Amino acid sequence: MAPMTRSRADAKGVVSPLTAEYYGARADAGLIITEGTAPSAAGLGYARTPGIYDNAQIDAWRAVTAAVHARGGKIFLQIMHVGRIAHSANRTIPDAPVAPSAIRAAGQMWTDAQGMQPNDEPRALETAEIPAVIAEYAQATRNALAAGFDGVELHAASGYLPNQFLAPGSNQRTDAYGGSIENRIRFVVETLAAMIAAAGSSGKVGIKISPGMNFNDIQDPDPIPASIALAQAIAPLHPAYLHVMRTGIGAETKLREAFAGTLLVGGGFGKAEANATLAGGSADAVVFGTPYIANPDLVTRLERDAPLAEADKSAFYTPGPKGYTDYPTLDPA
Ligand SMILES: Cc1cc2nc3c(=O)[nH]c(=O)nc-3n(C[C@H](O)[C@H](O)[C@H](O)COP(=O)(O)O)c2cc1C
Repeated sequence: MAPMTRSRADAKGVVSPLTAEYYGARADAGLIITEGTAPSAAGLGYARTPGIYDNAQIDAWRAVTAAVHARGGKIFLQIMHVGRIAHSANRTIPDAPVAPSAIRAAGQMWTDAQGMQPNDEPRALETAEIPAVIAEYAQATRNALAAGFDGVELHAASGYLPNQFLAPGSNQRTDAYGGSIENRIRFVVETLAAMIAAAGSSGKVGIKISPGMNFNDIQDPDPIPASIALAQAIAPLHPAYLHVMRTGIGAETKLREAFAGTLLVGGGFGKAEANATLAGGSADAVVFGTPYIANPDLVTRLERDAPLAEADKSAFYTPGPKGYTDYPTLDPA
């Protein structure tokens, strides 16, 4: 099950019992990857998204991992630092968002207090501050394991902080973290290494990328070479998996050749194409996102070739059970 932000946490980034019910109902996915979760208050930028940096947040996540484990499932926490994709009305600290460079991302986001607002102008991280940001990911990894997660996923896709380092449009640094491909991938490689060290096991840490995705004002005219260089740089770390969201530019095929480890591919899959992909050996596992929203028993439905319910998009990010925990299963639970 793909990571999907559902915005049901409270304003302090604490998930509710509904979230345990939601993930528990999807425990037969094989592996659930949670919604993006902030490693620090600085990494939080959206309304009602969760964190994993204080005790209230960690305790609340324990109920989620317990619900999934009670039904025999596995669950990784996706660690998401938003970087410059943030608005002050959604944040718990007054500090400006941090990013590789002080370049505001075009676009707007929802705030509960002020409706749609432009992304805030970020401040560029000083070189000397970068180790502390990486240390936040390491601490978040330890916190996730303490909360009972089976592992964590570094969110380096979709235009958030790691992706902001990878892409030249958002990274105009002149230090060792900007410029050449080797420099632009450095933050992601160092962060993944720190997370693996914190976990004490490479098998507990995966990473997601989305080469070619322009979401959140990512500007990268030539993303494939950097993603191949990244895959080659992380291979010796032996992460649990490389998770690629396909975007139509064929990066996943090139990454299959460049990366000998476990490859997860997602993005618009249905049953037939997923089976063909696995049979052809172009991925080790296929990731489903949107179909899980309205089909808690997606696995059963695919097994039976039963019809899939359509998700109500208007309830993707709204608070409460509607469009979250109220989708029925085929068989009474
Ligand atoms: C409501 C929603 C929220 C999402 N939130 C996240 C997220 O927090 N982290 C992430 O990596 N991807 C996120 N995605 C992207 C999905 O993980 C997945 O890559 C994408 O939906 C494509 O797969 P699909 O076609 O099977 O839905 C989200 C997608 C949806 C529909």
